[in-house]
Amino acid sequence: MTPESKIKVGVLGATGTVGQRFIALLAEHPYFVLHALGASSRSAGKQYPQAVLWKQTSPIPASVRDMVVNECKPEFFKECSVVFSGLDAEVAGDIEAAFRSAELVVFSNAKNFRRDPTVPLIVPLVNSSHFAMVPQQRTLHNPPLKCGFILTNANCSTTGVVVPLAALEKAFGPLESCIITTMQAISGAGYPGVPSLDIIDNIVPYISGEEEKMEWETLKILGGITENDNAEKCFDMHSRHPLRISASCNRVPVVEGHTECVSVRFARRPPPSPQQVREALAAYTSDAYALGCPSAPRHTIFVHEEPDRPQPRLDRDYQKGAGVSVGRIRQCKVLDIKFTVLANNVAIGAATSSILNAELAVIKGYVS
Ligand SMILES: NC(=O)c1ccc[n+]([C@@H]2O[C@H](COP(=O)([O-])OP(=O)(O)OC[C@H]3O[C@@H](n4cnc5c(N)ncnc54)[C@H](OP(=O)(O)O)[C@@H]3O)[C@@H](O)[C@H]2O)c1
Repeated sequence: MTPESKIKVGVLGATGTVGQRFIALLAEHPYFVLHALGASSRSAGKQYPQAVLWKQTSPIPASVRDMVVNECKPEFFKECSVVFSGLDAEVAGDIEAAFRSAELVVFSNAKNFRRDPTVPLIVPLVNSSHFAMVPQQRTLHNPPLKCGFILTNANCSTTGVVVPLAALEKAFGPLESCIITTMQAISGAGYPGVPSLDIIDNIVPYISGEEEKMEWETLKILGGITENDNAEKCFDMHSRHPLRISASCNRVPVVEGHTECVSVRFARRPPPSPQQVREALAAYTSDAYALGCPSAPRHTIFVHEEPDRPQPRLDRDYQKGAGVSVGRIRQCKVLDIKFTVLANNVAIGAATSSILNAELAVIKGYVS
């Protein structure tokens, strides 16, 4: 695209952890140009550098330095076709719905619409086919929409685990059960997040709502789209092959990068060997890469051979945090196979997923 033909986009929650990552990723994007910023009334009216506590390793992009932060109201985003939302879930529901009603396309990181039966929950390395729900969402909206829709990405720990699970189902057929134990970084709780006195020298074995999200979202993402008796499309929640998932979520003193220990049982007997699993994960290619999304990682899953990888400090920035790292693939004596996953919670777990979903939307013709 030429600079003039780029799609004008806005960022909601532009001052937050995820919002800042959007701004860094959009500074030089081949399809999108950042045109408007939104945050709370505490930030509105201020120039961006005065409104934000910038926590990225690169400086605030020059193109954003003079921009003024607005309130998150569609009237301030009239020239945009798309908004990326890094809004707090407390407020995301009403604000994102208002932007959709104003015919904008909303790529959301918040939990509010993930369970909506017409809203796709897309991890761009896994289930881009769920874009097929967008026309129905537009039709069922009152009044029906021509351009607007909401599309969410998953919770940051769900995102990490569904990528290898999707690769395994593609290679070996349905999974039957899956047990996941997470070690989640503190940046997953936003800024300033977990108080330092709670997390230094400590592990917190509870993250409110996280286990339920992982167990439910995984089924929506790995399932397909089917039709009900009224010929309406609906998400099948993996119901043709019931999949039991048990997640235990922990907050650990790591700044960025969620690590997850995963054990799986396959429906197929005998199950694949660790070597077959290794090869299938390394060979897995996402639609996002196959379709030419500019931000898609070359290696969807990087398979580590070293016995002590992946590690958050060493591996979270590989491929700019857009891929997923897997290691320690071995036999499980209770289920079939176990392994360790690392995903960058702020990159592929949040902002990079939304940007990839927006690139897919452009390539598939849902945004122009
Ligand atoms: N952090 C992660 O790794 C991660 C991963 C996946 C998904 N998520 C989800 O992404 C969303 C953002 O998370 P975060 O970690 O970036 O949170 P955060 O750092 O706390 O940022 C929240 C943003 O929401 C804005 N906001 C708060 N109240 C508002 C209001 N009343 N009106 C308009 N804007 C308001 C804040 O603006 P002010 O600065 O003006 O207050 C800020 O820009 C959450 O829904 C979270 O669950 C986060």
